[in-house]
Amino acid sequence: MSSLVCVDDYERHALRILPRSVVDFHRGGAGEEHTLRRNRTAFQSWYIRPRVMRDVSCVDLRASALGCEASMPCGVAPTSMQRLVHADGECAAARAAGEAGTVFILSTLSTSSVEEVAAAAPDTTKWFQLYIYKDRSVTRELVARAERAGFKALVVTVDSAVYGMRRADMRCAFSLPAHLRMANFSEDMAHTSGGEGLLDYVNNLYDQGVTWKDITWLRSITKLPIAVKGVLTAEDARTAVEVGVSAIFVSNHGGRQLDTVPAAIEALPEVARAVGGRAEVYLDGGVRQGTDVFKALALGARMVFLGRPALWGLAHSGQRGVRGVLDIVRAELRTVMALSGCTSVSDITPAMVAPASTYSRL
Ligand code: FNR
Repeated sequence: MSSLVCVDDYERHALRILPRSVVDFHRGGAGEEHTLRRNRTAFQSWYIRPRVMRDVSCVDLRASALGCEASMPCGVAPTSMQRLVHADGECAAARAAGEAGTVFILSTLSTSSVEEVAAAAPDTTKWFQLYIYKDRSVTRELVARAERAGFKALVVTVDSAVYGMRRADMRCAFSLPAHLRMANFSEDMAHTSGGEGLLDYVNNLYDQGVTWKDITWLRSITKLPIAVKGVLTAEDARTAVEVGVSAIFVSNHGGRQLDTVPAAIEALPEVARAVGGRAEVYLDGGVRQGTDVFKALALGARMVFLGRPALWGLAHSGQRGVRGVLDIVRAELRTVMALSGCTSVSDITPAMVAPASTYSRL
């Protein structure tokens, strides 16, 4: 494992060993992939303003989100169909998150069911990501199952009324191989059948008529806290708070839905300002190293989540690989905090970063 010293090493390895169609599906983004690239490069537009001589002999990374304790402010984002990259898929990733003491979010479109993941990783803090189906009884049943299985929060993805225009997927009409199925559904809904691919699955079954009223409906059928995932504007953030969500993910779905929207880190300050502490704010999109986590926290996120990096870890060695990725980010964050004079996540305030342009103007 010694050649794996950063998350990008895991990515390079995964891109070498995974089949082309799997790489296209997991790595790719929408349109010209402008937002996908920007999710990474925008972190460079912020510099850290380190403070020195502050006694960093003890650095505490602990965080909490929706009442759940985490050993670090970095969890695993929901990504679909993880058994495409490793036979143990979601069960391994959930166990790894548990070992690392952090949150695992299970996708609705998983290749292991809610119940299988709960049984495989009983001690992991698990949240369930939800889409709202045209047939509301499908969503209602998923919520009930997640509650019964001990999941602690619902993460409603709000940026996916239709499927993003992912050119690589369209070229290969991406669909699940025959030996895998969408494990949360009965046979008739479980397959992206007839070679139609995921695009048709989403466009046929998800409700394109969803509005904020559906969050109110969701609140009426569950006691679990609700987070919305995929907010990029102050206007939507304010509405989300008004309808009573407990948390907001600033996310552009890893650049996979609408191309040329801002990078997650670029949208974060406006959302954090609009929320003004009335809900928790998280970020995902392009987080690959400790400095990224640090900058997101400084700009208003309470927690960040890793999407593709967990998949690259899975591709390497299942549970061990995901754990490896989380451990790398943890070690990097600890170093970044020590070198910038922060001994707890609450020390990572807005004053710890500045736009890079501040310096180039000098
Ligand atoms: C995703 N994402 C996602 N989001 C969601 O709400 N439900 C889902 O089923 C999926 N599935 C999915 C599959 C794959 C292959 C990827 C890469 C992403 C989006 C995911 O939760 C997260 O927003 C991004 O992955 C974050 O960006 P990074 O960390 O991948 O750059």
